[in-house]
Parts: sequence; structure tokens; C-alpha cells
Amino acid sequence: ESSTEIDISAIAPGQAIKAVWRKQPVFIRNLTPEEISAAEKVDVSTLRDPETLEKRTTAGKTNWLITMGVCTHLGCVPLGAGEGEVKGEFGGYFCPCHGSVYDTAARIRKGPAPKNLEVPPHEFSSDTVVKIG
Ligand code: FES
Repeated sequence: ESSTEIDISAIAPGQAIKAVWRKQPVFIRNLTPEEISAAEKVDVSTLRDPETLEKRTTAGKTNWLITMGVCTHLGCVPLGAGEGEVKGEFGGYFCPCHGSVYDTAARIRKGPAPKNLEVPPHEFSSDTVVKIG
């Protein structure tokens, strides 16, 4: 199966879930307005892997941040999707293996990981379903 459909209707703002695509974890996160503005406030030119939130999300649906749950350092699964408040100091994800910290757009901010969490190909089949792959 090369693509998977996920019901996102029960993911409240501020919550993230883990799904699976091609046997790898995918994080699906419903950003709060505060998390969106935190991501948009960052001067992208200061980032290790410069990308805007807009580039990483779908127009009109910037609250839905969909990324691989695979640290770009050595492939551990970061915390912050389904572990309550364990989001790290930039409010996104925290990789416990070697301390990489990702922000609310899942961009790398601190630690050894070279790249942002990868955004897999995805599109919204409806307001409540996203298709990954
Ligand atoms: Fe995530 Fe090393 S695998 S910091």
C-alpha cells in the first residue's frame, strides 16, 4: 500500500497523533493559533534548514502539520506526539536519543539533527481526512 488515509476529526488543537506510512511513524499535529504564530515569527534566515511554515503545510490549512516522526539525525522517534507535554523547549518535538529539538513547524532548532522533520507528500481528501503518499 503506497498511500494511507487518516481520519483527523478527533485531533484537537494542540494535539498530535502518530500514524504509520510505509512502516514509518508520521506525526499529524493540529497547531494552535499560538503555535502557528510562534512558527511564523521566526526569522527563517537564522534556521539550519530554512523553511517557512507555509512551505511545510497546505494553503488554508496551516494548522495541520504533517511530518515524518523520524529524527533526521539517526532516525529515532522524537517525543511530542502523544506524550502529553513533552515537546521540548521550542514547543514542537524533542528527540531523546541525542537531544535534537524541533519547533512548532517541526524545524530543527538545536542538537545534532541536520534537517527539519520531513514533510511526506499528502493531500486532504476532505476536511476530516488526509491522504499520505
Ligand atoms: Fe535524534 Fe540523534 S537520533 S538526536
